[in-house]
Formats: sequence, C-alpha cells, structure tokens
Amino acid sequence: MTQLESLALRFNHTPQQTALWILDQTLLPLKEEWIRLTTVSETIEAIKALKVRGAPLIGVVAALSLGQSAVKGASLSQLEEEANALYAARPTAVNLMMAMNRMIAGIQLKKTPRALLNIAIELFNEDVTLCESIATNGAELIQSGDNILTHCNTGGLATAGIGTALGVIRQCHSQGKKIHVYVDETRPLLQGARLTTWELKKLDIPYTLITDNTAGHLMQLSKVQEIIVGCDRIAANGDFANKIGTYALAVLAQYHNIPFYVAGPYTTMDWHCANGDQIPIEQRKANEVTGVSGPFGQLSWAAEDSQVFNPAFDVTPAKLVSRWILDCGVFNKTDFQQGKVKQSMQQLAEQV
Ligand code: MRU
Repeated sequence: MTQLESLALRFNHTPQQTALWILDQTLLPLKEEWIRLTTVSETIEAIKALKVRGAPLIGVVAALSLGQSAVKGASLSQLEEEANALYAARPTAVNLMMAMNRMIAGIQLKKTPRALLNIAIELFNEDVTLCESIATNGAELIQSGDNILTHCNTGGLATAGIGTALGVIRQCHSQGKKIHVYVDETRPLLQGARLTTWELKKLDIPYTLITDNTAGHLMQLSKVQEIIVGCDRIAANGDFANKIGTYALAVLAQYHNIPFYVAGPYTTMDWHCANGDQIPIEQRKANEVTGVSGPFGQLSWAAEDSQVFNPAFDVTPAKLVSRWILDCGVFNKTDFQQGKVKQSMQQLAEQV
C-alpha cells in the first residue's frame, strides 16, 4: 500500500484501488473541501481552474494523476496523449513540464504501470526533500526581529512539502526567530489573502495582510527587512517568472535598498530558456479582474465590456535579485554568470 499526504494532496494506492484527492484551493479559507480526481481530464480542469496550484504541486499532481491512469489500465499511447495534455494545462510553471517529461520518458521506455506510478511517487517525495533543503539554506539569511514581505502563496498549498519562500519563513519560526510576515493580498485571485494567511494562521506565525499597493509605502517607512518570493520558472541567466506583481516588488526593493530573495527547487530551473524574455506568460480571463465569481460571491465592479489585461505572471530580471535560495545552496548574480549554479545542480544530480 502507498499513502501520500500533504497539506493539499492525498493519494492512496492498493492493489484494489487508487485514489487521488486535492484540497480545493478556490474555496479556501471559506471551506476545506477535498475533491477526488479520477481522470486526467478532471486533473487538467482542476489545474486550469487553480483548484490545485503552485508550480511544484501542479507537477506532482499531474504525475500522480497519470500514474493513476497507468495503474487503471490506460494504454501507453493513451498515457502519452494524456501526458501531453497535462503538459499544456498551464504554460509558465516549468515544474509541470519537467514532471511530464519524466513520465513521458518512462512511457517511451515501456515501463510497467506500477513503475510509472513509482516515478510520480518519487516526484512527490523529492519535492518534500527539496523544500526542506531550501528552508535550511534560506533561514540563514533571516535575523530574529525581521519583518519579511512575501507575495502569492508558496507554502504547503503550493508544494508537496513545507513550501519554498514560505518554507524558509516556517523554518525561521521553528528555529525560534521572532519574525513577522507582511502578506501581499496578491490580486487578482488573492492567493496571499486567502491561502498564505490560512497557512500562517495554522502555523501560528505572526503576520499582517496588506493590499499589494501598500508594499511600497511599507518599504518607505523602513518596515520591511527583506522580501522573499517563490518562482514558476528560472531562466539560465537567473531571470525568473513569478506571480504578477513580483517585478514591481523587486524594483521597489532596489530603490529602498532592501534584500530581494527568490526561493525555488531545481525543478523550477529551465536551462533551455536563456533569459526571461523566453518564458511564456499565462494570460487569464477578464472576469478575474472585473469582479468576483464563485464561492465569494458574484459581482462585477468594472464598467461593462471593459478591456482587461490579465497576465498571471511577470518576469523579474536577475539584476534585481539579491540571492537565489535553491535546494543546492544560496547563490548571487556572479554565481549565475560564472556557471556555478548549473555546476552545483549537476553535482547534486550525480550524487543521487
Ligand atoms: O497562479 P499560481 O497561484 O499557481 O501562482 C503561484 C506562484 O506564483 C508561486 O509563487 C510559485 O508557483 C511558487 S510556489 C512554491
């Protein structure tokens, strides 16, 4: 029997049955409702609707869904088709593509259904370990007494483990450092207000929720000691994509001389992307900006038929980043320029 459990994912496999469950993140914090994903189509729908979200977690869920399909008897050609469909469910977070490439490699080697499922289980377990390493590495940069600003949600709801940027924060808290977190609400879908506050409250970590446009004011008042964010794709030169609004924070941080850190696992690195210009940015529907629709109500506050620009992510250039907190260490711009990051990742991969 295999059983996996994280804050937002549950998976069970016995010879008799396989079950994959996700916590519906569109309902948080109003309701904690688990939904069962029985087919790859349901998983794709859940990823697109952000019922399951966060770069590492969508890769893990997609892989487990494909593993489930394999043990339920899907043919190799059907599995390859399903893997390609999952691959395209969201375009920016490269973890999804990396996970699907690993599954596709297994399918092309004609691995058994159980062996394919094992690849997905390994991805889950690996992500747990990667989060731990990021947290340990990043915690060294934070002092007791610091006020940390973060954006979006990068915790247990976004990964299989304790998170990336939020994992660092959690590690500091468990080390006994007296920290306080400023949580950007993160328009338009409020991952900060709905999800990060939910996680921080459960963890008993002191926080204050702010609107996104309060961040600059706080920096001007010298109330922020550092900013830590997650990432959806890091290009070979260190530029990275993350939730829309991250770039503005990085510009503000530089102006105010505040350290700006990005945290992520090697599964978010895209060595094929030379720089941030090559990262595809997901565009989302207008109704996410013109109002709300869903469990929080039905309301439109914009003039009817307003034209909307709603990119889900933006790109922060490497020159605005103080440190990259990765599972294989903490790096600066020179490390990226001199190829040290790639070298460290390769060394670690060879040890596995
Ligand atoms: O659209 P989302 O909610 O999936 O966006 C998530 C983010 O931008 C996170 O910061 C990123 O995936 C890193 S999560 C560890």
